[in-house]
Amino acid sequence: MRAAVLHTCGMPPVPGDRPVPVPADGEILIRVTAASITPLDVLCAGGRSYFGAPPTPYVPGVQGVGVRDDGTAVWFPTSAGMRPGDGSLAEYAAVRATDTVELPDAADHRLVAALGLSAVAAQLALTWRGELQAGERVLVLGAGGVVGQAAIQLALLAGADSVVAAARSDAGRERAARAGAAVAVPLKESDDVAGLAARLQAAADGPVDLVLDPLFGIPAAAALRTLRPGGRLVNLGSAAGETAPVDSATLRAGSLRILGYTNNELTAAQRSAALTVIAAHAAAGRLTVDHETVRLSDVTAAWQRTDRRVVVVP
Ligand SMILES: NC(=O)c1ccc[n+]([C@@H]2O[C@H](COP(=O)([O-])OP(=O)(O)OC[C@H]3O[C@@H](n4cnc5c(N)ncnc54)[C@H](OP(=O)(O)O)[C@@H]3O)[C@@H](O)[C@H]2O)c1
Repeated sequence: MRAAVLHTCGMPPVPGDRPVPVPADGEILIRVTAASITPLDVLCAGGRSYFGAPPTPYVPGVQGVGVRDDGTAVWFPTSAGMRPGDGSLAEYAAVRATDTVELPDAADHRLVAALGLSAVAAQLALTWRGELQAGERVLVLGAGGVVGQAAIQLALLAGADSVVAAARSDAGRERAARAGAAVAVPLKESDDVAGLAARLQAAADGPVDLVLDPLFGIPAAAALRTLRPGGRLVNLGSAAGETAPVDSATLRAGSLRILGYTNNELTAAQRSAALTVIAAHAAAGRLTVDHETVRLSDVTAAWQRTDRRVVVVP
């Protein structure tokens, strides 16, 4: 079969031939229709993730959408790059049957692939870890990314009163506005905590209840200052910094809560339930995300694209 094959960690995969995978006990063979390239794929393939360098050659792709042999469309996860074995960027993938999630007939496979685990993280960081309540006000950082775009729409679908967004690029702020953010605040390299906090507070026009934070660093420290007493910040990434200059006075004065979130902690049932909600919203036209489709033969050039989510079709 044709596949994206990664020969050397740190280099992009190249189109090549791999044997069709043979399902182990409990696994089934999926004919892949769409699979996204995510930050986690690039991190693992770089060989420097906390999972260690994967044995090569291997087929990257931690998730995908495809068709079972009975014709049913499913979303599926893989552990490619995290554990030995091939992933979703190929014509076929062998996956644990119990990990697959059946999709509605109306589901757009490419859109579900683009949303995937990024949208699962957005949904569960908001509603499960963040305990979002109807009527609350939400601040979404990194709002132009897939997590951010999904979080804006999913917060509003969960009954949030309004969403303030913050994003680095013009394109990111445009995506946030399209997703339904009431206002989109620029994030700048030159920001300090006090200056950015003032800008966020002015845009929010009142305290927020919950911050969804894929960035950490200065944006997270500033965002804490927009929270009402007892407010929560859920961190799920560190694109802007591995550490954040959080001051004790802000934390204490507001009795704030800083919470961590990872998809790796989810049970298969939690992940499946969240994916089902996401696929239903997407099929009904209530949830979308900016993405671009490329052929498997173009995977090398598409590998490190950061301007939008890339979905590969075999
Ligand atoms: N914890 C989990 O389970 C989990 C699950 C999924 C994702 N994540 C993490 O969440 C983060 C976002 O994921 P994603 O799928 O949304 O990725 P994505 O679609 O590639 O978006 C990344 C976003 O980060 C922004 N960004 C990057 N560096 C930045 C910086 N220094 N300052 C401000 N913004 C910056 C970019 O902004 P511009 O577009 O404006 O340049 C982009 O919108 C990633 O770090 C990912 O690893 C975690």
